[in-house]
Amino acid sequence: MALAAINPTTTKAWKKLQAHFDTIKNQPAKQFFAEAPHRADDMRIVWEDFYVDYSKHRLTSETMALLLELAEEVKLKDAMSQYFGGEVINQTEGREVLHTALRNPKSAEVMVDGENVMPEIYEVKNKIKGFTEAVVGGKLKGYTSKTFTDVVNIGIGGSDLGPAMVVESLGYYKNHLKTHFVSNVDGDHVNEVIKTLNPETTLFVIVSKTFTTQETLSNANTIRAWFLKSAPQHAVSKHFVAVSTNIEKVKAFGIDEKNIFPMWNWVGGRFSLWSAVGLTISLATGFDNFDKLLTGAHKMDQHFRTEDFDKNIPVITALLSVWYNNFFKAESEAVIPYSQYLNQFATYLQQGIMESNGKSVDRNGDKINYQTGTIIWGEPGTNAQHAFFQLMHQGSKLIPAEFIGFTKSLYGNQDHHDKLMSNFFAQTEALWNGKSKDTVIEELKAQGLSEEKIKELSPYKVFEGNKPTTTFLIDKLTPESLGKLIAMYEHKIFVQGIIWNIFSYDQFGVELGKELANTILKEIEDKNVINNHDISTQNLINRYKTHR
Ligand code: F6P
Repeated sequence: MALAAINPTTTKAWKKLQAHFDTIKNQPAKQFFAEAPHRADDMRIVWEDFYVDYSKHRLTSETMALLLELAEEVKLKDAMSQYFGGEVINQTEGREVLHTALRNPKSAEVMVDGENVMPEIYEVKNKIKGFTEAVVGGKLKGYTSKTFTDVVNIGIGGSDLGPAMVVESLGYYKNHLKTHFVSNVDGDHVNEVIKTLNPETTLFVIVSKTFTTQETLSNANTIRAWFLKSAPQHAVSKHFVAVSTNIEKVKAFGIDEKNIFPMWNWVGGRFSLWSAVGLTISLATGFDNFDKLLTGAHKMDQHFRTEDFDKNIPVITALLSVWYNNFFKAESEAVIPYSQYLNQFATYLQQGIMESNGKSVDRNGDKINYQTGTIIWGEPGTNAQHAFFQLMHQGSKLIPAEFIGFTKSLYGNQDHHDKLMSNFFAQTEALWNGKSKDTVIEELKAQGLSEEKIKELSPYKVFEGNKPTTTFLIDKLTPESLGKLIAMYEHKIFVQGIIWNIFSYDQFGVELGKELANTILKEIEDKNVINNHDISTQNLINRYKTHR
């Protein structure tokens, strides 16, 4: 059954939200709390090791009720059953969207084309486990019988960002293997990585769902050529493994069938880290930690599937995002993790969120006349405070932000952690409450400044506040809590896509540039001056050809 295709702006809830928005859009932050003293208790979700506070938002309980009404009206519940039930909700590509099956327990049953896919999933999981244990334990060796010291993940997009982010995020849990990621077709990237490597002790994991991606195949070919400068041909089978759906193409590359880790078309690239695409995660942190990541994600799946919408973390966070995107017309959202380990988290989310919901044609095939996918960006605090927080506090743009922090420090460095977390709490407080002109004047008076100086300076020192944030306070950064967090964003993406009436699981928007690049590459290799593009592009290519 196809997903319902309801234009959200035609729903009763949307119209009510529009009218309601006009009544509260200028309400100051303090008034929200003054009018509802229990709001901090009401607008929070405590689930397992997550404490999610969404009380610092420009909305009331009435807003939340209307947003929940919107979720009902666009038939979110039905869409969720179709998502988890393996229906072809990626209609434009004719595929199921079943990354959630990858983290199911073995006993679950998920049918695709009349067959339960769980046995295959567990077969591949066992293969990942066995391979990981052999590499980490030193049983599997390189062609000169030395144990592996380094692992290089060769992939791009979903075949790079997920594994790279998780390996960095779980740095505390890492084993002795050094991990590297080569993604960009920029040759400087691959050269920078291989210059540090010893071919005798390095394992290469080529990750490409399609095994046709230009960047990945170029990097894999360059690395294989470099490897074969010192190693014999037969050594390739000991040092190269691949993760792909395209078994024929992998074999044609020269990889041994036993070194192929299959994946499936019903797993989208940007949601694939739970499959064998996560092999590098398993190698870097051990299979048990990889499995715990999956367990965490499964727990979030269960929460999402079974919890009432008003206590459902992915549903609530998605609705908040819709509120700002479509009513306040906020252009972007920031994600600020207060953990250096989560350095790549926002970068990872950019693909998940922007590749999924960056669409402007609805599920009826009509051009959309409302805003869809949000622009996502962010960096870890406290560094971000010293970079772009000025704009968040005093700039002219409204930037709703999600703050992610952990109660416990991994190394137990309490002094640093208390400082980190005091910043974490202070920033959301400052963004929300701001600083009034009266307070600024008092402070300047206390500093002994003249009346004239106070008048001159005070406007610049006022913080308007009213900047909305959601706070995720999680007990500890563990493989399991990270799995929950990533799955939370995956479901948030899904909910938003349903509300916006778009197809979240295709990515045709990345194709045009790829096609043109192939044409231009041939023209660059050709001696002749080119004259078949627009004048601007033509001039640029010709200059490149004469100056390279
Ligand atoms: O950027 C487009 C895209 O298709 C992503 O969705 C995907 O994650 C990436 O390219 C890599 O594709 P593949 O795994 O097939 O090499």
